[in-house]
Amino acid sequence: MIRGNGSPVKVLNVVGARPNFMKVAPLHRAFEAHPRFVSRIVHTGQHYDERMSDIFFRQLEMPEPHLYLGVGSGTHAEQTARVMTAFEQVLAEERPDLVLVVGDVNSTLACSLVAVKQHVPVAHVEAGLRSGDRSMPEEINRIVTDSISDFLFVTEQSGMDNLAAEGVPKEKVFFVGNVMIDALVQFREKAARTTILDDLGLDPASYVLMTMHRPANVDREEGLAALLETLEALAARRPVVFPIHPRTRNRFGDFGMADRLEAIANLRLLEPLGYLEFLRLMEQAAVVVTDSGGIQEETTFLKVPCLTLRENTERPVTIDQGTNELMPLDPARIARRVAAIRTNGRAHGAAPPLWDGHAARRIVDALDTRL
Ligand code: UD1
Repeated sequence: MIRGNGSPVKVLNVVGARPNFMKVAPLHRAFEAHPRFVSRIVHTGQHYDERMSDIFFRQLEMPEPHLYLGVGSGTHAEQTARVMTAFEQVLAEERPDLVLVVGDVNSTLACSLVAVKQHVPVAHVEAGLRSGDRSMPEEINRIVTDSISDFLFVTEQSGMDNLAAEGVPKEKVFFVGNVMIDALVQFREKAARTTILDDLGLDPASYVLMTMHRPANVDREEGLAALLETLEALAARRPVVFPIHPRTRNRFGDFGMADRLEAIANLRLLEPLGYLEFLRLMEQAAVVVTDSGGIQEETTFLKVPCLTLRENTERPVTIDQGTNELMPLDPARIARRVAAIRTNGRAHGAAPPLWDGHAARRIVDALDTRL
C-alpha cells in the first residue's frame, strides 16, 4: 500500500445501481484532475441493462468500468453476498488505499463491509441521511455503511445532525454538498440540446413526469392499483410521462394490470430513459411525481414542484428549503394537489447550502488533507 503525506492514493470508486452513476462521474473526474489520486471504477453489476446502466456511462462521459463484477439481480441476501464475495477478490488484487462508496444501495453496504474488514479505509458519500423508517432496505444500508466508514461526506444539515446524534466523531464528518448536483450543473446544457420534448410532442411546463419503483409502493397489489388510479386521474387532465422502472413494469405484469396501464389515454409509457433525456424532462415538467430519493434533490435544485409519494424522506432539506412535498399514495389527493400546483406556476425555493457544482472537488481536497 502506498501511503504517507503527498504519496499517490489509489481509490476504488464503487458503482452498482442507476442512482450511483451520476454521483461517481464527478468524483472520478475530480480524482483524475488531482495529481495524487489514481481513480478506478468498480461496477458491481447490480444494474446491468443498457438502459439501467450502460447509457449512463456514455452520457456522463465516464470511462468503461475498470472492473465489472456482474452480480445481477437477486434477493437482498443473494445480491449482497455476491457483491461481497467478488469484491473481496478485487481488494486482494487491486490493493487500493481507499474504497469510496455512494448512496444507499446494496452494493454500497456490501463493498464498505468487505473493505473495512480488510482494513482499507472507506469513504461514504451521501452519509448521514435518515428516513427513520427501518422497513426500507436503503435505511439499513445507510445506517450500517455510516457506522463502519472512516470518512463521511454529507449533503445537507440533517445529515450532520443525525451523525452527531449517533455519536460519530466530528473528525470523520465533512459537510461538502451534493455530488449529484455537480453532475446536474455540468450536464444541464447538454440535456437542453436533447430532442426529447419534441420527440414526445410535449410543450414545456405542460406535463406531469412520473417515476415509481419503491417496493413499499409497487410490490403490493393495493399500491400498484392506487398507482394505476393516480395515473388515470392525472392523465385525464394533461399528458403524463412515465419512464417505467423494470421492477414496476414486472409488477404490473405479475398483478395482471398491464393491459389497464397500456390503455390509459394521454399516458406516455416509456422505457427507462438516459440521464440527459430525463434531466431535460424534469427541468421542463409542470410537476414531478415520484418515490425516488435523488429526484427530490434534483427538482429542488431545478425549482420544479415535486410530490413524493412516501410517508417520510431522508432528505428533509428538499421540503424545508426546496420544492418537495410528501403525499400518501392517494389518487384523489394527488390529483387535487397536482391541479392546484398548476395554477401556482413555477415553484420558489432555494438551492440548499453547497449544492453548487463543487462538491466532488471538496471531497477530493478533504481526502488529500487526511490521507
Ligand atoms: C435498487 C436500489 C434502490 C434504488 C434503485 C434505483 C437497493 C436495495 N435498491 O432498487 O435503492 O433506488 O435501485 O433503480 O439496492 N432489473 C432490470 N435491469 C437492471 C436491473 C434490474 O431489468 O439493470 C430488474 C430485475 O428484474 C430486478 C428488478 O429490476 O429484479 C429490481 O432490481 P433490484 O436491483 O432488485 O432493485 P431496484 O428496485 O432497482
